[in-house]
Amino acid sequence: MIVAHTKQELEEQLAEWRRHDEHVALVPTMGNLHAGHLSLVDLAREHAERVVVSIFVNPTQFGEGEDFDEYPRTLERDTRRLKKPAADLIFAPEVETMYPFGLEDATTIAVPRITENFCGADRPGHFDGVTSVVARLFALVQPDAAVFGQKDYQQQLVIRHMSLDLNLPVSIITGETVREEDGLAMSSRNQYLSEGDRAIAPVLFKLLSDVAKQLQSGARNYSDLEVEAIAKLSAVGFDVDYFSIRRAQNLEIPDRDCDELVVLAAARLGDARLIDNIVVTI
Ligand code: PAF
Repeated sequence: MIVAHTKQELEEQLAEWRRHDEHVALVPTMGNLHAGHLSLVDLAREHAERVVVSIFVNPTQFGEGEDFDEYPRTLERDTRRLKKPAADLIFAPEVETMYPFGLEDATTIAVPRITENFCGADRPGHFDGVTSVVARLFALVQPDAAVFGQKDYQQQLVIRHMSLDLNLPVSIITGETVREEDGLAMSSRNQYLSEGDRAIAPVLFKLLSDVAKQLQSGARNYSDLEVEAIAKLSAVGFDVDYFSIRRAQNLEIPDRDCDELVVLAAARLGDARLIDNIVVTI
């Protein structure tokens, strides 16, 4: 496994693969890898002969007061984890490599509308940071495919929008959420949960599942379902940012006939902000 820190190291290896007509799939991450990330590596492997995993804690997607400084940086452990399933290369750049003009003078890529609600509203500027860094990673790695997790549902829609709108020659692939045995979606931020909060955390997925079942059974009183779920989450100690039923395709408000819905939620428990979702096809 190669670990490339610089643009030159990355480009030399990519050129070698391209000479052999090998396709490249990219799995962008911020490191501190868990089984969810590893499943994305497996999926990437189905789409290309070579898999690059980027590990970069991107400063531009963290707002003021967020956990940029505390975010776990675990490159050595991540490198060991990526031996099985095997990634071919880890790209672990410095901030200067990703933002050569510095953060103040960096070009921003901003997707409108779909970034305005939900995590975009709760974390102003977050998605501009995500699209700006993902566009840079695409420019550096020039992958044929890139794999993102469904847990960050809005993020993968935003990245699809950017890629289509800018005609970027990369297929965006979404990998299923990997869960703990009790249903909690795996996330690097789960480690911020106290023992008590960890016991409560699976309630989020349970309520998403309950609402998904009700939708499957024909319920269409979307706002009642949302209000009830928020009340139940608050009752067990969550501070709810949103719990919403939307059109899966674009997060717009669905009418009664919509047959592809997503139930998506974000809620805080102590220091952790948990997000999760379920897509419901009727
Ligand atoms: O999902 C993440 O870990 C990050 O938002 C991403 C896509 C790696 C961009 O920094």
